[in-house]
Amino acid sequence: ATTLGAAAAQSGRYFGAATSSFMFSNSQHTTILNREFNSIVAENEMKWDATEPQQNVFNFTGADRLVAHARANGMSVRGHALVWHAQQPGWAQNLSGTALRNAMINHINRVAGHFRGQIHSWDVVNEAFADGGGGGRRDSNLQRTGNDWIEVAFRTARTADPNAKLCYNDYNTDGINAKSTGIYNMVRDFKARGVPIDCVGFQSHLGTTLSSDYQANLQRFADLGVDVQITELDVAQGSSQASIYERVTRACLAVARCNGITVWGVRDNDSWRRGENPLLFDANGNKKAAYNSVLNALNSV
Ligand code: G3I
Repeated sequence: ATTLGAAAAQSGRYFGAATSSFMFSNSQHTTILNREFNSIVAENEMKWDATEPQQNVFNFTGADRLVAHARANGMSVRGHALVWHAQQPGWAQNLSGTALRNAMINHINRVAGHFRGQIHSWDVVNEAFADGGGGGRRDSNLQRTGNDWIEVAFRTARTADPNAKLCYNDYNTDGINAKSTGIYNMVRDFKARGVPIDCVGFQSHLGTTLSSDYQANLQRFADLGVDVQITELDVAQGSSQASIYERVTRACLAVARCNGITVWGVRDNDSWRRGENPLLFDANGNKKAAYNSVLNALNSV
């Protein structure tokens, strides 16, 4: 196959990109997006601050345009992200306790309900674990509502959109380490107690090295009975960029329950890390060496 999406589809996987509805008027961006990718995710437009700017007042303008673009171009949509400690609207940042808990539940019901049936996988909870060696939860206003906030979020999302895969999504989980093990223990506990969780997203914002146990880490989660997805892939520029992209792609292909890969933008200049040129297309829209390494890997299965 000659495009990323078609090559991934040969093994039943998707290959996606993050984008924004305001980028659709950029013809170079959109030409690449429509040609190469068969899944898209909103880089910002489905987040809490974008979708509920005032409490119980919802705005789906950008997100609806993104979903319509996907439908019109035969792409599926990942949902990102229902609950997160960052990018909360100001009114939510100022809530705590029961008021915040109830606002979270209402937000999930309304947003997942609005897109019911149109999202293949939702990041229900994003980045709830702390960095460093402790392996515990991140302190946040949500965490301070009680340790059960994550399972409440997943149960709420299941009711609001019963057919979406419900994912937990995080970064610095690119190997077997204290943070990924903390998440692993949560997923194992959720599966044991029947809390609805279907997938774990590995953001994979990568530097110039990749842990040798990247694939083994994906596999240990898959062995718990959840799907795994690479959700926000980007890799620092340098001589290792193409080979790291290739190794991540091959790791996903080697794990039967790895459903797909999403890169966090299209061209280097679209990226939140634009100074590091971390994506598959350069600022002129040209395919980079990293693109060829990913396409070849996808075509090798
Ligand atoms: O929307 C406002 C706009 O009104 C204002 O004029 C402008 C001025 O700075 O800011 C705009 O908001 C920006 C927003 O992106 C939309 O462009 C924020 O400042 C900016 O902080 C925000 O950055 C996003 C970041 O998440 C926020 O935490 C990045 O685009 C986005 O790539 C990044 O994505 C996250 C994932 O959601 C979760 N994982 C990590 C990843 C990278 O940080």
